[in-house]
Amino acid sequence: MMERKDEFVEVLKAKLQEKRFKHSLNVADAALELAKRYGEDEERAYICGLLHDVEKNSPEEEQKGYMLRFDDIPEVVVATPKLWHAPAGAAFVRDELGITDPEMVSAIKYHTTAKANMTMLEKIIYIADFISDERDYPGVDEVREAAFRDINEAVLIGTRFTLEDLLRQGRVINQDTIDAYNEVCKYFNY
Ligand SMILES: [Fe+2]
Ligand SMILES: [Fe+2]
Repeated sequence: MMERKDEFVEVLKAKLQEKRFKHSLNVADAALELAKRYGEDEERAYICGLLHDVEKNSPEEEQKGYMLRFDDIPEVVVATPKLWHAPAGAAFVRDELGITDPEMVSAIKYHTTAKANMTMLEKIIYIADFISDERDYPGVDEVREAAFRDINEAVLIGTRFTLEDLLRQGRVINQDTIDAYNEVCKYFNY
């Protein structure tokens, strides 16, 4: 996988704006550190982190086209353009870059919404996106700490943050995010 890193970086340079490109490098680094901490394959984690937002700056029509190559996209996701880049990116790496490892494809597909029963790789990419170097939202240090203490605690914080945000804005909620929250919630008492 690592032998294709330069090729993937060139793809990202062509498809992403500068800010998103830097974010992608930072998420790759964070994913690598988390993989070391949790004994996950470091190369898979790095490459997934690198490519997770590959479709983020693409025209909506392109994103929608790639997303709809999956036949299991929830209605809520189809109705929310902000969520398209994750499944779109997953289809892009599978169909255009030949990344067939289903866990890698899935980690990119669910990096925004999360879902229940995530694999360690899926959790790592979901959390790496929250704690990458350039992130500076209030509470980011708490998430960084939690990420290396117990990744499920970080998933709880992340999903709760997303759900609170969506509720506050009166937006529709993806069932996968609720399922992810419920699954990790039972482990912790806040
Ligand atoms: Fe994303
Ligand atoms: Fe991201």
